[in-house]
Amino acid sequence: MAERPNLVRRTAFPSSVSRAVATPLQPSVVYSSPDPDALDDQYEGRAKGYTYGREGHPNADVLAQMIDRLEGGEGGIVTGSGMSAVTATLLGLLSAGDHIVGGNQLYGRSLRMMTQDLPRWGITSTLVDPTDIAAMRAAITPATKLLLVEVVSNPTLRIADMEGIEALARDTGLILVVDNTFTTPYGFPAYTRGADVVIHSVTKLLAGHSDVTLGYVLARDPARRKAIYDTNVTLGLTASPWDCWMAERGLYTFDMRFERAQANAAALADMIGAHDAVEAVLYPGRPDHPDHNRAGALLDGQFGNMVSFRLKGGRAQANALTRAAPQLAFAPTLGDVGTTLSHPASSSHRALTPEGRAALGITEGFFRVSVGCEPIELLGRDFRAALDAAV
Ligand SMILES: Cc1ncc(COP(=O)(O)O)c(C=O)c1O
Repeated sequence: MAERPNLVRRTAFPSSVSRAVATPLQPSVVYSSPDPDALDDQYEGRAKGYTYGREGHPNADVLAQMIDRLEGGEGGIVTGSGMSAVTATLLGLLSAGDHIVGGNQLYGRSLRMMTQDLPRWGITSTLVDPTDIAAMRAAITPATKLLLVEVVSNPTLRIADMEGIEALARDTGLILVVDNTFTTPYGFPAYTRGADVVIHSVTKLLAGHSDVTLGYVLARDPARRKAIYDTNVTLGLTASPWDCWMAERGLYTFDMRFERAQANAAALADMIGAHDAVEAVLYPGRPDHPDHNRAGALLDGQFGNMVSFRLKGGRAQANALTRAAPQLAFAPTLGDVGTTLSHPASSSHRALTPEGRAALGITEGFFRVSVGCEPIELLGRDFRAALDAAV
């Protein structure tokens, strides 16, 4: 039999004097080095090179550098999801016996991690209202190492007392970790204001198209950065090159999506607030928002794309609303290019008792809207139809 052509040995990638405009996607998990000395140089930082995909790859680095530029830092780490960014940060920086003071309306899984998962490794937490700086200060114990906050609470859109919290971290030397997912660096420049660690769920507004799951961590102190990076690699919280490539693509339009969605949100909040079916609308840019003044001072007019509202009615009216507007994706997420609607009582906050939800103002008629980039006339028509059905 004639010798068959060898297709196992990889065919060299064609070279080109002209360069590709789009970033190449590099899916390789392994990288081949010329010799063991070269590998030593790479591992010991004398030469830049990739070794194994879980430890890093070019598409993650391109994405990290783009988000670094948004936050105004360098050395950000891309992780496989927003929750892996939270996990790598907390497990990388804390040990058994340490204590966290956290906001009491953080993302649900972050709350679960602090109340149910971390205690199994000997790390405890106290959750307090981040609009109440005296309560945050009172929750600090000699074992406290870290403060974890989100600027805008979910789903009631309260604004944390960030000036007070930043000063508290400075006074006490505690590590200030800000999950900046809702606000983004355009709404709140967490890192340049002094946060020690900034986290994003890149899945949301930054990537913007509901087709990747990614996270990001930026740590100021090199030793903390290394601890978070090593935890990420050891726990295998790696981001896939494809997801990074997709998120990079999404980021090119982040600026425009953010501006458009935010302008839509302001207009939609007024329209929703004026409807007969609605008991209250919550948007930090409105003068009737309980933290409007603080939002004005902290967010520099960037009030974001999230709007929440409470119907006068309960579950029956909530069902009628989503059924009347199937074109508005009823999905528990945020930050998509299109508008999405979530109902905390049946999704993110379903584990709470009705009394627990009531204490936060979350009724069966409570909705959170992640406003997208549709033409505002279209959104107005859709929401009018939905709210008319919920009277
Ligand atoms: C504020 C915040 N942090 C973290 C996460 C977790 O992100 P991911 O779903 O990418 O794991 C989310 C998800 O909704 C979030 O809203």
